[in-house]
Amino acid sequence: MTNPEQGNQTSNTEFVLLGFGNLPELQILLFLLFLVIYIATVTENILIMVLVVADQHLQTPMYLFLGNLSCLETCYTSTILPRMLASLLTGDRTISFNWCVTQFYFFGSLAATECLLLLVMSYDRYLAICNPLHYAARMSGRDCLHLAGGCWIGGFLCCGISTLSISQLSFCGPNGIDHFFCDLIPLRKLSCNDPHLMETLAFILSLVFLLVPFLLTLMSYVCIITTILRIPSTPGRQKAFSTCSSHLIVVSIYYGTLLIVYMFPTTNILSDFKKVLSVIYTVLTPLVNPLIYSLRNKEVQETLRKACRKFMFGPC
Ligand SMILES: *[C@@H]1O[C@H](CO)[C@@H](O)[C@H](O)[C@H]1NC(C)=O
Repeated sequence: MTNPEQGNQTSNTEFVLLGFGNLPELQILLFLLFLVIYIATVTENILIMVLVVADQHLQTPMYLFLGNLSCLETCYTSTILPRMLASLLTGDRTISFNWCVTQFYFFGSLAATECLLLLVMSYDRYLAICNPLHYAARMSGRDCLHLAGGCWIGGFLCCGISTLSISQLSFCGPNGIDHFFCDLIPLRKLSCNDPHLMETLAFILSLVFLLVPFLLTLMSYVCIITTILRIPSTPGRQKAFSTCSSHLIVVSIYYGTLLIVYMFPTTNILSDFKKVLSVIYTVLTPLVNPLIYSLRNKEVQETLRKACRKFMFGPC
């Protein structure tokens, strides 16, 4: 983007995403690895969306939220991986300023939406398990729609603010972004404006969209797990406990890596470590979430089996 107010300063209109370094063998290996991950992620998430939309039995709040999560994960991983795969394959790492800002906008909005949606999902389980008498009243179809809609709108509004402030920055120095996608912190490091405002903004947004949902989610799970531990029957208790603890683990990994990357100040030593952590929340979370939340679930497995029988005329 050329910026007429910059006067004599020349502005960069193109960046280079440095990605994972220069070793040619590593590029091919990473390409194959990420290609397999991308195909698996999109396939499982689309499968879950189709099941939730098509099957009448899965039209309960929990599954509608899971359907939303899968839709979200498909878009989320698609903001990062296809571009990364293309540049691993062709070696072309340049990205225009406008594409860079666009990528950041969609990635950031979807990440914020995911934080909110994970919170809503834990609230839904909290009501169902700790407050079952009030569940039907507090989770009507309308409430569900409001909650899900609120997550999407909130996420996209939040990131609109930070994207707007990025688009005001000017970039006049080196144009190599030491990352595999256009993210706030590596971009900010290249800007020649005063970074303090951006730093404060990023901190406040992380606080509101990361730390607060994380703590609330954690609280819901603590309530759920203490309730479960009070159930006397052992087999039912064990199953519920294993489901909840696996949810708690994936949620903590997602929020935890995001918190480290966005709330800790970046030093040079930390910067490579943060790149690895970024792979966790951009690439691995969308791959693992559907497995943990949906495909382990008995009802989803049953629906899948029925659907297979119906469409393929054979055992599945
Ligand atoms: C997302 O949630 C809304 C509201 O509960 C629901 O109507 C919609 O079908 C869900 N979308 C998917 C793909 O499951």
